[in-house]
Amino acid sequence: MIPQDFIQSLLSRVDIVDVIDHRVPLKKAGANYQACCPFHNEKTPSFTVSPTKQFYHCFGCGAHGTAIGFLMEYAGLSYVDAIKALADQTGMVVPETAAPNPQRTQQTASLLEVMQGAELYYRQQLKASATAIAYLKKRGLTGEIAARFGLGYAPNGWQNLEAVFEQYANPVLQEAGLVVVNDAGQRYDRFRDRVMFPIINQKGDVIGFGGRVLDGGEPKYLNSPETPLFQKGSELYGLFQARRAIRDAGRVIVVEGYMDVVALAQHGVEYAVATLGTATTATHIQKLLRHTDEVIFCFDGDSAGQRAAWRALEHSLAIVTDSSRLGFLFLPESHDPDSYVREFGRAGFEEFQARSVVPLSVYLFKQIAQQHDLMTDEGKSAFLKALQPLIVQVTAPSLALMLRKRAAELVQIEMAELTGLWNLKPARTAFASPARAKRPAPASISRQLLRMVLFNPALAQQMSEELLTQNDSDTQTLREVLVILRQHPHLDTAMLIEQGRHQAHAATIQQCGAEIMDWDAEFDVAPEFNLALDQLRATGKQSRMQILAQKSLRDLTEAEKKELQQLR
Ligand code: UTP
Ligand code: MN
Repeated sequence: MIPQDFIQSLLSRVDIVDVIDHRVPLKKAGANYQACCPFHNEKTPSFTVSPTKQFYHCFGCGAHGTAIGFLMEYAGLSYVDAIKALADQTGMVVPETAAPNPQRTQQTASLLEVMQGAELYYRQQLKASATAIAYLKKRGLTGEIAARFGLGYAPNGWQNLEAVFEQYANPVLQEAGLVVVNDAGQRYDRFRDRVMFPIINQKGDVIGFGGRVLDGGEPKYLNSPETPLFQKGSELYGLFQARRAIRDAGRVIVVEGYMDVVALAQHGVEYAVATLGTATTATHIQKLLRHTDEVIFCFDGDSAGQRAAWRALEHSLAIVTDSSRLGFLFLPESHDPDSYVREFGRAGFEEFQARSVVPLSVYLFKQIAQQHDLMTDEGKSAFLKALQPLIVQVTAPSLALMLRKRAAELVQIEMAELTGLWNLKPARTAFASPARAKRPAPASISRQLLRMVLFNPALAQQMSEELLTQNDSDTQTLREVLVILRQHPHLDTAMLIEQGRHQAHAATIQQCGAEIMDWDAEFDVAPEFNLALDQLRATGKQSRMQILAQKSLRDLTEAEKKELQQLR
């Protein structure tokens, strides 16, 4: 572990503007700097770097972070490597000492360590197994691609990992999902006689495995269980390897299987990722839209593929933006991406793509229209009823307008009639004032305080955690931030955000960092801060009064009676 105070002094020496400008040339724009975002395709710059906050934020795709975060995202470095790279630039040496750390980080660290150990072992074992090598060769893979994806082999045998780890009984092996304990208390390796596909997170750490049998055994694929490191609903196989190719191609293709990703890469289609034996989730899609504007879901041509596609569509509606394009690609029956690309090669696969991708809107109407008879009034009514819950989820203003318009046309009614029927706000919000339409719901008091504390961390000294009586996530985040600042009162915005990286609410802290990007550095938030504190005190008083007033007079202690009187 790298000590936090080292990270702080590092951040105080590097300038995020230099760090980014080297890689993505920036232009001055007011108090900030701008460029076209390196994380998604755009023609007008919405990627903004603040020299005072030492933070970047893209108003287009939502990417944001500190100088460390930038190097991780942009260069695909791990957290530690990003810190090392920055330290090199400034001539600082990263200390190797182990700093005392919260239990959680330690647990994560040891899980990561054993995963790394296992991956190395499986890779070595692949080199030693003629059968496993022959299997991969038979499936058309070269050693180069196997290396790129870190493919390995878990040999046959029940306790091979005993030779890899010092303590086979260490509970961390079980927690990592590498070792299984049966009812009789016996321990054995989860993965035996399988080709191993390491699952790698955005930082480049191994967080799980998928293992495929070599013959016809069951189950065909065995996956790591969910662990503190590994959540299937948010990870995508191959994303780490595909990042650059996704940026170059301007699109990503989502397939169903490990082998599909690897085989596509073998044939030069390097911008594919796979869900991990689960349906596509909203988190998956959001993650992908941070890398590119175009996401193509590619499914097998069978009925399971159709069902999976529909689920992906349902999860996309609330997320799709006016600048993103989501599409569906159905392979001919009896093909999956692996078999297709092996038969027709990259050119064949990409030609098929260019011909056959169905845009989300087309797929939506086609599916629902198929189920209704649009020649009768009853059919039209049922068609509209089926569409409504889907279309109302779309928040992208222009797309929402287009979908409504198309729905109205298909049943030959006027837009105004549809708007009335669905009780919608008239669609003018779509164009009248994009700025207003985009403004989110008013922030809670805690959120406001959180932003102000991030903007000016010294303000934290003026408030104590006792004021925070609520327990919503903004309040929990604020509490975390106050605790950090009590221990380290001199952090600036970027240091605070970095320090918050390992907290439960890291994402909210970063989000708030993005929310203060356009605040003027000279802005004095103290008056607003005091106002918010007053409000907080008032609500605290109110809820305390409610609690006391709910008790019967008899149950109140003398002190409580006094308190109630005072409050009143
Ligand atoms: P498929 O059964 O379509 O296999 O599973 P595939 O990708 O074509 O695999 P190959 O070509 O026979 O090797 C697709 C995905 O579903 C999950 C895996 O993530 C797999 O990649 N799966 C499948 C499992 O998790 N367990 C299984 O037993 C089968
Ligand atoms: Mn297959």
